[in-house]
Amino acid sequence: MGELQIPQWCMATAEHKRLGANPVNTATSRTTSSRTATSGTATFRTAVVRTPGGPDAIEIIDVPVTEPGPGQVRVRVAAAPVNPVDLGVAGGFFHAAGLIDQPAHTGLGWEFAGTVVAAGPGAGLAPGTRVAGLVDGFDRDFGTYAEQLVVPVTALAAVPDGLDLVTASTVPLNGLTAAQILDLLGDAPAGANRLLVTGAAGAVGGYLAALAPERGWQVTGLARAEDEEFVRGLGAGFTTRAEPGWDAVADTATLQEPALALVRDGGAFVGVRPNAVPAAERGITVAVVMVHPDSSRLSGLLARAASGGLPARVHAALPLDRAADAHRALAKGGVRGRYVLRP
Ligand SMILES: NC(=O)c1ccc[n+]([C@@H]2O[C@H](COP(=O)([O-])OP(=O)(O)OC[C@H]3O[C@@H](n4cnc5c(N)ncnc54)[C@H](OP(=O)(O)O)[C@@H]3O)[C@@H](O)[C@H]2O)c1
Repeated sequence: MGELQIPQWCMATAEHKRLGANPVNTATSRTTSSRTATSGTATFRTAVVRTPGGPDAIEIIDVPVTEPGPGQVRVRVAAAPVNPVDLGVAGGFFHAAGLIDQPAHTGLGWEFAGTVVAAGPGAGLAPGTRVAGLVDGFDRDFGTYAEQLVVPVTALAAVPDGLDLVTASTVPLNGLTAAQILDLLGDAPAGANRLLVTGAAGAVGGYLAALAPERGWQVTGLARAEDEEFVRGLGAGFTTRAEPGWDAVADTATLQEPALALVRDGGAFVGVRPNAVPAAERGITVAVVMVHPDSSRLSGLLARAASGGLPARVHAALPLDRAADAHRALAKGGVRGRYVLRP
């Protein structure tokens, strides 16, 4: 695949306008999440794009409820975070890249938390179980911005008591990405364990900075000056401007070639843009993460979030109808913690 133009949704500038944090809004959430159309078919609401074109292209449509098959559950979604990838889907970046070819509409949202309302044969999860999960892949007609979702149990894990569903929903996509970046990096070599995490104040970067010491990495986070307290609070070193010479760089800020240039000869680089991997140079091992579901891993990450060992952050909760507003706000940059939709 050829090099693509870097879209607005994954670019970042130091001049991003900061948005004031809003309190989590539970007053607008719905308590019922399916209704019966005049035809007698039960339906639920979900956000999609028919013709991509940014936030204005997001539509809320009614679709029929489907029953879970073998190994699947139907979940009443309580929370669905808005992530940078969703801006790319709504804006048509992944359509242009040839990764989406939906005949009618494309679903939005990769992660969720909610409650099991129906279980298919062999699913092994009782209705009433609180769960969080990852729906991966670009080319799909429905996403997690929905009142209901039918998903395989292999894509989710139970949410531990003491962790609310809005916070839990922010763990699957970016927690698993951080863990899978660590799989690519492996255990830190003895005497060569200096890891620079670019974008350490972001979702992936924050989780990675928290998890990497377990594999022996000594982490320094590259972030904005105003993020110093957060990054140091993770136990990481902090810098706003890194010099070259790192044993490894995990580039969650998508700086790309400038981040590769910070790796020492023979070191390691892990990127987060599978469609734009910097060319290897100077004996550096170059890898790129593509997140995939992992139920048992997710279970551990949720437990860690419940005990305060993972920085799961919510910026604000909004009703599903405000998905486009959340996209506009995220596109401006500088948001810390996720916008979470409450369908
Ligand atoms: N390949 C995969 O499987 C996968 C999975 C998940 C995520 N991703 C990708 O990973 C990237 C990060 O996702 P995320 O959810 O962590 O995004 P995020 O929460 O927006 O975090 C990105 C962070 O990088 C910071 N940043 C950007 N440029 C910087 C710079 N020059 N210096 C210092 N900090 C800088 C941002 O700060 P400002 O907000 O101030 O710019 C922000 O704190 C996205 O591109 C996402 O699409 C890939």
